[in-house]
Amino acid sequence: MTTLTSPSLKYSAFVLIVLYALTFSFSLVSARPATFLQDFKIAWSDSHIKQLDGGRGIQLILDQNSGCGFASRSKYLFGRVSMKIKLVPGDSAGTVTAFYMNSDTDTVRDELDFEFLGNRTGQPYTVQTNVYVHGKGDKEQRVNLWFDPSADFHTYTIFWNHHQAVFSVDGIPIRVYKNNEAKGIPFPKFQPMGVYSTLWEADDWATRGGLEKINWSKSPFYAYYKDFDIEGCAMPGPANCASNPSNWWEGPAYQQLSPVQARQYRWVRMNHMIYDYCTDKSRNPVPPPECRAGI
Ligand SMILES: *[C@@H]1O[C@H](CO)[C@@H](O)[C@H](O)[C@H]1NC(C)=O
Repeated sequence: MTTLTSPSLKYSAFVLIVLYALTFSFSLVSARPATFLQDFKIAWSDSHIKQLDGGRGIQLILDQNSGCGFASRSKYLFGRVSMKIKLVPGDSAGTVTAFYMNSDTDTVRDELDFEFLGNRTGQPYTVQTNVYVHGKGDKEQRVNLWFDPSADFHTYTIFWNHHQAVFSVDGIPIRVYKNNEAKGIPFPKFQPMGVYSTLWEADDWATRGGLEKINWSKSPFYAYYKDFDIEGCAMPGPANCASNPSNWWEGPAYQQLSPVQARQYRWVRMNHMIYDYCTDKSRNPVPPPECRAGI
């Protein structure tokens, strides 16, 4: 008898171990990506943000009643924030989707800004970036994207360490703001920033300088987000986190663009940049110092 039962006992023990291993590995896999509510909260108009896919994605809604927005629960000092966004399709003129970091400190605020400016059907979306350091902004650059950002999800990333702030699209740098403190140029280094995103109407300036108005007959307008990822020093948090040189984002590979990234960045600037405050003579007869310090 024993010789007959013992193999089947062994077999059921084996099955149990396999089941246990499967359950355990699934629970590890589902730990990432983070759900929306783990890192964020709704900041403006609950009724215009819908959670999708068990909270792993969200839908932002803009209609004639309201736009909407969300904010991170924590502020961060250095690190990397990325998310996948699918922008408002079709006739999106006059709509603006923003993804930015902001210190919320009024007159001395630091801010790193992505703003996606909608357009008439078939016309290219424009991405405007801006940088505020210690309350001083006016550093707009604009690129037209090389793909239709409303057809699919693309990854938008704000990277920020002691050496540089880099905005990238699908891993391709479209804007770099370097730490040129050695040349007397301020760099955002002291204030933690929250992560924000909004969808709203700005047809007084967004599309062709405000000439193209929003077409409300096409509303509601929808943008979609997923794969929220924040790695950084959360504040408040361990006091020495932000100055710890062993944070991966401070490593040698992240202190300037790699040769491949530098080539991609040149490609964006040569082929897709449509506006640069550095070369706008009417606003800046003399290029601002950070523009002269080199890209
Ligand atoms: C919209 O399309 C027009 C015409 O192609 C283009 O000049 C403009 O840069 C595009 N973007 C915005 C935000 O106006």
